[in-house]
Amino acid sequence: MQNFEFYCPTDIVFGRGAEDKLADKIRQHGGSRVFLLYGGGSIEKNGLLKRIEDILNEADIEFEAMGGVQPNPVLSFAKEATAEAVNFEADMVLAVGGGSVIDTAKAVAVGLATPEVDIAEYWEKGREVEACAPIGVVLTISAAGSETSDSAVLTIDGTGKKGGAHSDIIRPDFAIMNPEITFTLPPFQIAAGVADILMHTLERYFTYTEGNLFTDMVAEALMKNVIRQGRICVAHRKNYEAMSEIMWCGSVSHNGFTGLGREKDFSAHKLGHVLSGVYNVTHGASLAVMWPAWATYVYEDNPERFAQYAERVWGVNAGTPYERSRAGIRLTREFFEQIGLPTNFTKLGIGVKDGAEIERLADICTANGTKRAGIFHPMDKKDAMAIYESVNR
Ligand code: NZQ
Ligand code: ZN
Repeated sequence: MQNFEFYCPTDIVFGRGAEDKLADKIRQHGGSRVFLLYGGGSIEKNGLLKRIEDILNEADIEFEAMGGVQPNPVLSFAKEATAEAVNFEADMVLAVGGGSVIDTAKAVAVGLATPEVDIAEYWEKGREVEACAPIGVVLTISAAGSETSDSAVLTIDGTGKKGGAHSDIIRPDFAIMNPEITFTLPPFQIAAGVADILMHTLERYFTYTEGNLFTDMVAEALMKNVIRQGRICVAHRKNYEAMSEIMWCGSVSHNGFTGLGREKDFSAHKLGHVLSGVYNVTHGASLAVMWPAWATYVYEDNPERFAQYAERVWGVNAGTPYERSRAGIRLTREFFEQIGLPTNFTKLGIGVKDGAEIERLADICTANGTKRAGIFHPMDKKDAMAIYESVNR
């Protein structure tokens, strides 16, 4: 086991009616002028925005609301929102939405705390985050895990690149998590969320660190549960128990807990982020395409590890490590297909690409061939091209 630090201070209110605690949590975490950020309108349609505005009005909490965050949120919008929040003199950012809204809120909160710095410095140029205003979340989709994670991902306009800022100080101060709020999600978004949740633990699982048995067991339990409950959620989105399991797994899967004591790989995310950055495809769907492709390309580096995944998560007991590895990868791909996710470029909606386009994707993934991505099989440009090509149909 490697040394680690684990700091995950988000104050979580989970369950039916959790939003009734919203005003208390805002005050407890220092908010009195709240900048409320949301997405493309789902919370206007399902009545959640009105409910939150009523709660804030009844509690005499000043707020300004701004909608319009799009999936795969862009840096330019985060800059506009930051200017609004600074102008309003907000002392807290409240994200009502999923990963896209929360990540934009994180950028706005950093911008509020350091208004003299252009937030592009952090998301585009890699400057370390120094300060952050308080962040509250009302979660509306179980997926990215941003409600407790240390990350925020924004698309850098016009480049096809998704830039991430990572720091414990951007973990939200509190998160309101009521599974009933997710009942209005379309099945495709539920499925994409399930894939993302599975992947946040799976991408931490492929490691060369020996031992670390507890982390393995936690990871395997989470993945088995996400697969079992994920199928139920996609078919029955109003199943409170299954939607609760997925919501809680979504947070735990990406707060760092399921990968403690080891390095993390995240190759499928690196490959998938390029597809989202260039073609604006749904994050979880990009992972459903890229993980089986990546796994098929690299499993021979360490078939024992892939065989352990196949055995403990999918119950594959027969065959050589190579055969069990292939069975585990096949079952994962089939699971994605069964819940309605794509596993190649055409099904992802981007069509078949020519060689020059595949090379462009690999260039973005590897900084024009100057960097390798991932640690399990550090991918160079040639590897990235081969992996993209394997699903280019
Ligand atoms: O925008 P609205 O109209 O609200 O619709 C959203 C959006 O179209 C809809 N939706 C959300 N809650 C709903 C709902 N529709 C009906 N009822 C509800 N209750 O769902 C769509 C997707 O929303 P989005 O926020 O994009 O989903 P997700 O949580 O999957 O976030 C994806 C973003 O998070 C980033 C991804 O790269 C992507 O940009 N990630 C962030 C991470 C982090 N900060 O730690 C880690 C992840 O790996 C990921 O990279
Ligand atoms: Zn993800």
